[in-house]
Amino acid sequence: MLTDNYNRTHNYLRISLTDACNFRCTYCMPNEDMLFTPAQHLMQTHEIIKLAHFFVQQGIDKIRLTGGEPLIRKDFDAIVTALSKLGITLTLTTNARLLHHHLFHLINSGVKSINISLDTLKPDRFLKITRRNDFEKVKANIFLCLEQAIRVKINVVLMHGINDDEILDFIRLTKHHPLHVRFIEFMPFDGNQWQADKVITHYEIIAKAQQTFDIIKMKDAVNDTSKKYIVPGHAGTFAVISTMSEPFCNSCNRLRLTADGKMKNCLFSNGEVNLLQALRNGQDLLPIIKLCVQQKAKALGGQFLPEIKNVDATKISNRSMIKIGG
Ligand code: 5AD
Ligand code: SF4
Repeated sequence: MLTDNYNRTHNYLRISLTDACNFRCTYCMPNEDMLFTPAQHLMQTHEIIKLAHFFVQQGIDKIRLTGGEPLIRKDFDAIVTALSKLGITLTLTTNARLLHHHLFHLINSGVKSINISLDTLKPDRFLKITRRNDFEKVKANIFLCLEQAIRVKINVVLMHGINDDEILDFIRLTKHHPLHVRFIEFMPFDGNQWQADKVITHYEIIAKAQQTFDIIKMKDAVNDTSKKYIVPGHAGTFAVISTMSEPFCNSCNRLRLTADGKMKNCLFSNGEVNLLQALRNGQDLLPIIKLCVQQKAKALGGQFLPEIKNVDATKISNRSMIKIGG
């Protein structure tokens, strides 16, 4: 078991497959012509599988594939096939643009749940946020998942002045469709122009929802990062990921591998260890991984306190979101 100094055990690994993406979301990618990591510096198929296998031997039983956009990797299906043999819960976070090419392979590999990023239900706004005109494709792929009885969570990063007027529309979407909408508080990463006043908090979201709907709080599981709610009678649910206003670091069970093979013990950690290099050098990985886990800070990478108005984004040292992998 990978246990840290605060007695948190880690059974969940998020593996970023690439830092490239077919979208250009402004809050995630610092600038339009960002340079992506050259392929030889990324983990190769067999290296991903070896590292994943090693982590599974240490108690990891859930793996999420992330990016950038994981589906743009040419070997995506091959990676899924190999990981599906590890006897773990396998899932992914995607922008869904290319999902129709991979969905049946994912289903055949035992994937039951997919997280899809979608920040707006308005096609013109979608173009503004992602800088790509692909709203209809993404929407069609969300419904394709539902037809195939895949559990779909929709990740919505809420930002004041961008999409804060769509909270109720997203909740309405759960009326007839068994979708699980998750509103995510906007987080600071390198170059994403985060400002405290752009964050829409858990409290504000619930206050807004209560003006229109009678909502009921649902029970959350121990390691849940989201606070779940339902409108009675709705087929789906909604939730808030309150990283900024009410962090859930106490029960964190996650570790991360970036696409270039660096292990991160927290989304906000500025330290990282080069596991890929260690693997290529034939070093013993276990002490390296254990040390990384032990160094995990108590909360938020040790970089800021959960007082949104006091966060100085310029003092946080980290990668941009696209280079971490959500
Ligand atoms: N704040 C909150 N969520 C973010 N994501 C990307 N950047 C940010 C940010 N700055 C989300 C994506 C994706 C998930 C992996 O993380 O929308 O759904
Ligand atoms: Fe791509 Fe997702 Fe980042 Fe948008 S948020 S640029 S879809 S990785």
